[in-house]
Amino acid sequence: MEKKIILTGDRPTGALHLGHYVGSLKKRVELQNTGEYKQFVMIADLQALTDNAENPEKIRNNILEVMLDYLAVGLDPEKTTFFVQSHIPALYELPMYYSNLVTMSRLERNPTIKNEIKMRNFERSIPVGFMTYPISQAADITAFKAKYVPVGEDQLPMLEQAREIVASFNRIYKCEILVEPEAVLPDNSSCNRLVGTDGNTKMSKSLGNCIYLKDDEKSVKEKIMSMFTDPLHINVSDLGHTENNPVFIYLDAFSKTEDFAKFLPDYKDLDEMKAHYERGGLGDMKCKKLLNSIMQEFLRPIRERREKFEQDKGYLMDILRKGTEEAVEVSNKTVSEVRNAIGIDYFNDSTFLDKFVK
Ligand code: TRP
Repeated sequence: MEKKIILTGDRPTGALHLGHYVGSLKKRVELQNTGEYKQFVMIADLQALTDNAENPEKIRNNILEVMLDYLAVGLDPEKTTFFVQSHIPALYELPMYYSNLVTMSRLERNPTIKNEIKMRNFERSIPVGFMTYPISQAADITAFKAKYVPVGEDQLPMLEQAREIVASFNRIYKCEILVEPEAVLPDNSSCNRLVGTDGNTKMSKSLGNCIYLKDDEKSVKEKIMSMFTDPLHINVSDLGHTENNPVFIYLDAFSKTEDFAKFLPDYKDLDEMKAHYERGGLGDMKCKKLLNSIMQEFLRPIRERREKFEQDKGYLMDILRKGTEEAVEVSNKTVSEVRNAIGIDYFNDSTFLDKFVK
């Protein structure tokens, strides 16, 4: 049986952080290692340009940063195909067909777009490319006939839009060419909403609230030690709240039961530690120290692998070039089928040619 296809990607606007890891990278590595799927991972430079048209340098400088993060977390070029979005002709062509199947009001209802318009004060001056990037993202997914898309919860509206496009396309052109994709969300719900170190729900470079996969030991420690906690937990003896408390959200996402025996044997597991925090008597410093030990142990091997690959950027470019060639080939097949279904594949369509050619 043909392997089911996975596709996902990241905008190359900066190095990847813990939010990227728990939201999607972790799942990609797991899925890759099952050997059951064909996985494509895309560097979404075109999508990054939709709100960085005046800043192409930023995107250019982050292509290899993102590749380094991929390999550092354990994505393996022998098992996963990496490619750059801007070099795939299908990703220019398909959005043109799909955009006829989507209304303006539908785009305006997309919660991600709505929210970003608000955050960036775009209002009516929003770039057309930005407004329509959900259509472009539908092309990213469907050009490869991907069934599974490992993403964080924030991407669900994009998948919804992609499914609607697939359904309309297959219905209008009476075919079953396009595949309806499904999101693959993280197993643990705190990973869906990994907050910034300041408790902000949006992790972003401009807010300075992210821990990067490449951060050195010292900056990781500093970021953890200055993390927001429970504002009502002023004295150690005060009752504490673990819900919406960034330190506990990170512990939910990263700690394992074994970590307690190793780093903080006062508690047998996270539930026991939370119970103590909630009834009062457990200080924030102790919680942060535990989190720091866990994060340092998690990040060390990633950082070391990253440093190793950094010595050989030529190798990274080779992987990307080869992957991109493969991706062009796969997606071009979908484009032919799509043209054929619409009925515009004039020069290859014998039922069309026969009318004129004797
Ligand atoms: N929108 C995604 C993000 O901001 C990146 C992306 C682009 C993507 N195309 C995709 C993710 C296709 C999944 C599938 O992180």
